[in-house]
Amino acid sequence: MTASATSDIIARAVEVLKENDQGAYTIPTKGLYPFQWNWDSCLTALGLAHYDEARAWTEIETLFAHQWPDGMVPHIVFHVWSDGYFPGPEVWQTGRPTATSGITQPAVAGFAVRRLFDRARDKKLAAERARALLPKIDAWHRWFYENRDPGGEGLVAIIHPWESGRDNSIDWDDAFERVPTEGVEPYTRRDTLHADPAHRPTQQQYDRYIWLLQHFRGLGWDNARLHDASPFQVVDPGFNAILIRASTDLADLAQALGETGIASANRARAEKGLAAMERLWSEAHGQYLCLDRVTGKLIDSASVGGILPAFAAIPGARTAALAATVERLAGRAGYVVPSHDPDDPRFDAKRYWRGPVWLVVNYMISDGLADAGHNDAARRITQSSLNLIRESGFAEYYDPLTGDPLGGGRFTWTAAMVIEFLREAPLLPSPLVGEGGSAR
Ligand code: DGY
Repeated sequence: MTASATSDIIARAVEVLKENDQGAYTIPTKGLYPFQWNWDSCLTALGLAHYDEARAWTEIETLFAHQWPDGMVPHIVFHVWSDGYFPGPEVWQTGRPTATSGITQPAVAGFAVRRLFDRARDKKLAAERARALLPKIDAWHRWFYENRDPGGEGLVAIIHPWESGRDNSIDWDDAFERVPTEGVEPYTRRDTLHADPAHRPTQQQYDRYIWLLQHFRGLGWDNARLHDASPFQVVDPGFNAILIRASTDLADLAQALGETGIASANRARAEKGLAAMERLWSEAHGQYLCLDRVTGKLIDSASVGGILPAFAAIPGARTAALAATVERLAGRAGYVVPSHDPDDPRFDAKRYWRGPVWLVVNYMISDGLADAGHNDAARRITQSSLNLIRESGFAEYYDPLTGDPLGGGRFTWTAAMVIEFLREAPLLPSPLVGEGGSAR
């Protein structure tokens, strides 16, 4: 890619960020997602910092201004009224001063804040803003281990698929069978008005999402009770790896800012988590798998959630195996990293998290692989991501076989990730020929 092609893509990405900017927070995309989403915002802040560092800090601060008193950071903050999204605040009924959802999302804030701090041009501003966020992010991490790891295993469970961010992954199918649908109040979906229903979760999955929501609501959103009361408790390796990486990053940042208590608490969480992750390794799949905490069994489902642990400081042999798995997938799909292994008969190239490629996940995996010295695999992911943008625009997600754009259009975090990829590899050859026999 030439220098002028690179600056053209960055200019287009900035346009997408600006059009979804609401002043103190960004929405993921117009129509489909009209509020502030937790992990979208934290990753988006990295793109905002490209042209406005103060605005990038504000993005994360706005999210944490709506942290619950117990430490949880909700997955949606409903800053404004909109009837374009279901389920809205009237369904969640969490009773917060500004309406929020009642579940959380991947804890990517610790990573994002450290990255903003490390790269800051204005170090004084960064130190002030990071110092104020440290105890809040630390409280969220503590909340996770207290409320989602009641047995002190070192790994946290999600209690709703939406918490993982990988809403309708094949990973959840078996555990979801335990979630009933009787008693779900009548509702009208809005997502299918904005995106092709064939690309979105099914109606049966939606009924179960809503059943869980109503069940938690019936327990007064009391986090001390929700984990044990949920028929859905899944230990997701990707979710845990993000929390572990964020804990390590928060520890380093706290150390640099002289907050030694926060540093040692987060270092201890990360060490315990890394040791516990071994239980999720599958030699047969060459990646990690989810664990169903209700049955105590690993879930035989090779999704990208099991490759995401490359983002954390897992043992070198595990990262090497994950790099090999990425290479194998690249020989199978035109574009990596598919959210599910195409060799699995349940793979679906177009339906939400059951096959498509997501650039945020690509970013975290390639970041970890590059850190561990697996530059070829990391570069392959970067190249695939940039090819998708060039060919299909700033989509929510992409078909890994054809590269077709899917889901919502002009997506904020996709734009932010493109800026990030181009920071790392501004002049990659285009297109990438001769690797895996594909011109993609
Ligand atoms: C949705 O509504 O599709 C979201 O992914 C839930 O957060």
